[in-house]
Amino acid sequence: MRLPSPSVVSAFTTFFACATATVQGSNSGHSFYTTSGGVPVNDPTAFQRVGRNGPILLQDTHLIEQLAHFARERIPERVVHAKGAGAYGVFEVTEDITDLTSAAFLDQIGKKSRVLVRFSTVGGESGSADTARDPRGFAIKIYTEEGNEDWVFNSTPVFFLRDPSKFPLFVHTQKRDPQTHLKNATVFWDYLSTNQESVRQLMHLFSDRGTPFSYRHMDGFSGHTFKFAKHNGTYNYVKIHLKTDQGVRTLTNEEAGDLAGKNSDWTTQDLFEAIQRGDNPSWTAYVQVMSPEQAEQFRYSVFDLTKTWPEDQFPLRKFGKMTLNQNPENFFAEIEQAAFSPSNIVPGIEPSADPVLQARLFSYPDSQRYRLGVNFNQIPVNCPMHVNNPFQRDGHFAIHNYGAAPNYMSSFHPLVYRSVPTKEHEEWVGKATLFSSVVEDKDFEQATEEWAYLGTMEGQQRNFVHNIAVHLCNAHPEVRKRTYGMFDRVDAQLGQWLREETEKEVVALSV
Ligand code: HEM
Ligand SMILES: *[C@@H]1O[C@H](CO)[C@@H](O)[C@H](O)[C@H]1NC(C)=O
Ligand SMILES: *[C@@H]1O[C@H](CO)[C@@H](O)[C@H](O)[C@H]1NC(C)=O
Repeated sequence: MRLPSPSVVSAFTTFFACATATVQGSNSGHSFYTTSGGVPVNDPTAFQRVGRNGPILLQDTHLIEQLAHFARERIPERVVHAKGAGAYGVFEVTEDITDLTSAAFLDQIGKKSRVLVRFSTVGGESGSADTARDPRGFAIKIYTEEGNEDWVFNSTPVFFLRDPSKFPLFVHTQKRDPQTHLKNATVFWDYLSTNQESVRQLMHLFSDRGTPFSYRHMDGFSGHTFKFAKHNGTYNYVKIHLKTDQGVRTLTNEEAGDLAGKNSDWTTQDLFEAIQRGDNPSWTAYVQVMSPEQAEQFRYSVFDLTKTWPEDQFPLRKFGKMTLNQNPENFFAEIEQAAFSPSNIVPGIEPSADPVLQARLFSYPDSQRYRLGVNFNQIPVNCPMHVNNPFQRDGHFAIHNYGAAPNYMSSFHPLVYRSVPTKEHEEWVGKATLFSSVVEDKDFEQATEEWAYLGTMEGQQRNFVHNIAVHLCNAHPEVRKRTYGMFDRVDAQLGQWLREETEKEVVALSV
């Protein structure tokens, strides 16, 4: 009997340095087949029974273990973004932005950090079709010398809501009906037409960009405002954009529908095969910068992620390039178990007071403690380059448990603390209020601009109207009416066009 191979042991006995390597294959200490307890097994297909025809025996622990382990193979899928695909790569700094942030991984041109990226759809289950009309998740884990920096982005520059309390309710309306277990167009549009701050996001979702050709052909956006901060405590507000170097390419509604039937894993396959043949996809990273003074004057709240920042006022400043160049070896270990969170944020980058972002800081690790267990950061793919927190002990699957090191602030073995930049700008005053935002005319302006933008591309306004009409026609008449009213506020002609096209589809449905 030999111990598990040294590489596996060392991954956990040092301060885990496993993030930079892909997950080890297995405990491949034996060349022969064994039980999980390492005991040799003659014939894995044989089972013990009484005679040739009698009942099987409880002492056949190999069979029992096999069945028991199989029954426990599934873990909860992500409550949103369950269907996804991922790969490793590298983020490289291409321009100097040290005037904006003190983040160590951004501190010099040419500096490279390893990344893990996971793309996803949002609403469907883990077996659902890749080409569904949906925003795409674009989650990036950057393994930096100062810990993990996660950019848990989407393929849309804005989001549906700005009140975090609405998120579970909103998601329910986009998923299955509690009774019929079917997607429900009435419920879908009932929510959206009564929470009209979503309209700017709908302009994106129901354009052909709501059905990207593949994960390689779409952009990524922070959506939220973050802060880039310097050691001296000064900061700017920023939004981060990742622009695809492959060019944006989309599917029509009908192409997406066909693919959903013919090859429902199309974008997963496309990503894997592209990397496998060395056609490594890349994205150029940009930052939009707004000073706190400019934020005071800005037409919209910078904490409202239903709005973009006009690029003529806040130009895109290039700073990096991300390239994906390595497929995972094991999907479950490296992609399904990956745990991305906006709360993984390094010194020099800070969350803004956007309430949706603030809620996400809690929600992701909370979800992962449920989905993967309390020690999810010990899973190799989630392990930071350096970690030292001997106060967090035990719990399920405590593989790396700090041995005999003191589990309190011991005066005999003092820990070393690194000073991080001051956050003097973080000072809040006020009293607790019950807040929820109200929709105003102002909330339609950017949707109107987006409608005009679609008009600059051949056939895109028509596709937008069509894409909504074939979905909205399935909704209750009252809900259709309210939805037309919402798009009237974007553009009266759009509202009218949508009304006509949708009602035509309603008639077509009824014959
Ligand atoms: C209040 C608002 C939101 C809440 C409560 C929320 C919550 C969640 C939860 C619980 C997960 C599953 C995490 C896991 O089990 O690992 C998730 C996944 C995800 N969310 Fe959100 N979310 C919100 C808004 C957003 C926004 C605004 C974005 C993008 C700008 C976003 C992007 C993502 C992505 C990309 C994933 C998938 C990460 C992966 O690939 O593992 N979410 N979200
Ligand atoms: C802080 O550092 C930034 C960038 O180096 C600089 O522009 C700014 O003037 C400094 N502010 C103060 C108050 O020292
Ligand atoms: C959709 O929801 C409406 C309103 O709750 C309900 O009347 C209808 O039966 C549902 N339809 C489906 C297909 O789930």
